[in-house]
Amino acid sequence: MYNKTILHTAASLLLLVATVPATAQQKVEVKNMNFLSSNHCIYRISKSSNYLLLPVQEKAEMCNVKVVDNNNQVKTLNVRLAANHIDYYVPLDLNPYSGSKGLALDIHVNGTYRNDGDLSGFTCWKNMQLADSFDTTNREQYRPIYHHTPTWGWMNDPNGMFYKDGVWHLYFQHNPYGSQWENMTWGHSTSTDLVNWTFEGDPIESDVWGTVFSGSAVVDHDGTAGFGKGAVVAMYTSAGENQTQSIAYSNDNGKTFTKYAANPVLTSNTPDFRDPHVFWNEDIKRWNMILAEGQHMNIYSSADLKDWKLESQFGAEYGNHGGVWECPDLMKMKVRGTDEYKWMLICNINPGGPFGGSATQYFVGQFDGHKFTCESAPEVTKWMDYGKDHYATVTFDNAPDGRHVAMAWMSNWQYANLVPTMQYRSANSVPRDLDLYEYEGQTYCGVTPSPELAAARPKKAVKTLSEACEMVVTLKGGATITLSNDKGEQVVLTYDEKSRTFAMDRTKSGLKDFSDEFAALTVAPVHGKLSQLRLFIDRCSIEAFASDGTMAMSNLVFPTKPYNRVTVKGKAKYVVYNLKK
Ligand code: FRU
Repeated sequence: MYNKTILHTAASLLLLVATVPATAQQKVEVKNMNFLSSNHCIYRISKSSNYLLLPVQEKAEMCNVKVVDNNNQVKTLNVRLAANHIDYYVPLDLNPYSGSKGLALDIHVNGTYRNDGDLSGFTCWKNMQLADSFDTTNREQYRPIYHHTPTWGWMNDPNGMFYKDGVWHLYFQHNPYGSQWENMTWGHSTSTDLVNWTFEGDPIESDVWGTVFSGSAVVDHDGTAGFGKGAVVAMYTSAGENQTQSIAYSNDNGKTFTKYAANPVLTSNTPDFRDPHVFWNEDIKRWNMILAEGQHMNIYSSADLKDWKLESQFGAEYGNHGGVWECPDLMKMKVRGTDEYKWMLICNINPGGPFGGSATQYFVGQFDGHKFTCESAPEVTKWMDYGKDHYATVTFDNAPDGRHVAMAWMSNWQYANLVPTMQYRSANSVPRDLDLYEYEGQTYCGVTPSPELAAARPKKAVKTLSEACEMVVTLKGGATITLSNDKGEQVVLTYDEKSRTFAMDRTKSGLKDFSDEFAALTVAPVHGKLSQLRLFIDRCSIEAFASDGTMAMSNLVFPTKPYNRVTVKGKAKYVVYNLKK
């Protein structure tokens, strides 16, 4: 659907020409447009095409665009239409309205910024393009090679992840109309190996109940919801005037969704009431759902995914409360080396993370289908990852072999909208298999790169660093490993045996001036001896793991040239697996 070239054919291109140059006072005529006031105009689409390409300027003011078909509003979106220069284009899909005799955009420019002249002088009007395809060729030097990214536009949280019939499905908070947070929609990508991803479209879009915030999806094997056996049922937050919960189902393995006619299925009068995570609880043979409400989690149960009973609340007095609780998950896992099962509750929090901004905390305890009981003291906070770029972590439903496969959004709300890319913004972390392990009287979450990553390695290991690789470091004691380039940019990784810590210093890693919050030194406690490190390097990120899963740290870096040198001080040896395709 999204071809790699734009066909600029005469038939598919509608050129709109300003007849008089714009000035602040003069009214300017633009063909196919009506200017109604200083902030309101109508743009008429008179030829049929697959897309209208909208020119975006990230620093321009937000325009609210209503798509009008035959006098009725059929869609609304917010986009920063270019006032005086174009950063990039985004596609408005016109296929749903093909054959329309009266297609128009009713556009309001919000705010008061119009110091570049009259509205009719905006650059965007002359540069709107009707086209039959949208060019998605990568234009970004920082786009990772083996991490999932949106083909274009903004991405935040992973949503509705599930596995079915050999395919991993990842939905994500997507803005298809710009590379900053806005217009929340569920984008969809699929993979058969958790490494190579294909974008499938945006199957869940906003409606009268609001934009589509985070949530989850389950494979309803028995058809309990009445949408058919094996239907995929998604539950998400409708973010309108209030936050409410809605469901939608798919009978084609997640490609398209039908919204349940009687949405929303769950309401509240609390402002922060979101991110439902649903799972089948075999212990009680019912569905459970966990949802973040203000500073605690609500736990519900249901027989049919529509009618939800509030069972209990957890967390007001537990863990970190430096920010809003969001994006929960709850799962039963085996404790390594034992026959014991415990439950882990994931709670993403923003801000309040160990190094500022967003982070993922978790609680270990018991859950009987009704109530979660945390086994550690209320003041104990456990972090799943000690980097700055690991947020909104949740797991796939229905993963094979009882696995708990998690993916995070690899950014931080402190600077996510400012990182130096334009065509798209943000990547996911590499997939990680979660389990539980015991250390000095506490149970912790083990975080191990999913086995699919080792399967993606070439047979031959080398000693030279590449921009997309896995570096395996064997340690016989404390060591400092520096990755650098000939621009003097560097990332310093230090394992300190004495203090039993691992640290990553990105203060001199490359571009950092886009935010005062970016330069950072992150430090993780090491549980036991760190004998092997796995470093996943992919153009703009470094994820460090203790091979046994007892430490994880994910950080973004923006070197102006790839790091190509490794310096090792101390008792360490390394090999590199090139993961560049
Ligand atoms: C977390 C979050 C969620 C919300 C979504 C909106 O990053 O704030 O709580 O559903 O992002 O995009």
